[in-house]
Amino acid sequence: MDVLRTISELRAWRRAARGKVALVPTMGYFHEGHLCLMRTARRAADVVLVSSFVNPIQFGPTEDLARYPRDLERDRALASDAGVDALFVPSAEEMYGQSHETFVYWPTMGNLLCGRTRPDHFRGVGTVVAKLFNLAFPHVATFGRKDGQQVLLLERMVRELNFDVEIVVCPTVREPDGLALSSRNALLSAADRIQALGIYAGLDAARAAILGGERRSAAIRNEMAQLMAKSPGLGVEYCEVVSRESLRAVDIIDHCSMIAVAGRVGTTRLLDNLWTMGADGDIRIEL
Ligand code: PAF
Repeated sequence: MDVLRTISELRAWRRAARGKVALVPTMGYFHEGHLCLMRTARRAADVVLVSSFVNPIQFGPTEDLARYPRDLERDRALASDAGVDALFVPSAEEMYGQSHETFVYWPTMGNLLCGRTRPDHFRGVGTVVAKLFNLAFPHVATFGRKDGQQVLLLERMVRELNFDVEIVVCPTVREPDGLALSSRNALLSAADRIQALGIYAGLDAARAAILGGERRSAAIRNEMAQLMAKSPGLGVEYCEVVSRESLRAVDIIDHCSMIAVAGRVGTTRLLDNLWTMGADGDIRIEL
């Protein structure tokens, strides 16, 4: 596996790559969820490039940039075992130089849900992903459904800015007890981890309610709130039932809704969500 550190190395690698190229953008500290993205990329393309870059511009000034977990040696071994062809690990200086004035952002949808408490977050995500697309010219890029708002915004970016990239959304990978995998789980103590399960308990209750025929958002959120209140160490930042098209709250769930939850356990911020799919009369749940 090639390890590329500079933009010119990446461009030279890309010029030499033959066939269909898949990109897996990540911030490193790989877990099974990342490996799943890599395996999906492997199946979808001839050549797989993974980027690992803890993107400073998607962190707010008081957020966890400094303590975001990192382990390049371990990541390198895991990516190589997953059949990745090249790993791009640029420095912040390489990506942004001394100053940077050009950004991709979503003035409306980027300020909803997570955007309410993380005002510049999606601007950082959109900008770095647009840069990676322009550097790697992938045919396919894989993203996890766990970061639901992120993937919906990136799908919009591809559509509206005419990137010639197919976005493949991979299911959320969970621990056996339901906790969604996240690099940030490494920051949880054993006690925190138990509290964090409240998010999944809430979403699982929503799933049961929807499968039982409930469609009213208020009733579903009520049920979720009762479940999540059983984890007093979980500070719920938001729990919203929204349309996946607009990210606006909906009163009635249909086949294109998302129930999105963000919460804090101690100083660690966690996300999870549920998507409704299928036809109106026959709603399927992706959790
Ligand atoms: O999901 C992530 O890890 C990041 O937000 C991404 C898409 C790699 C952009 O930095």
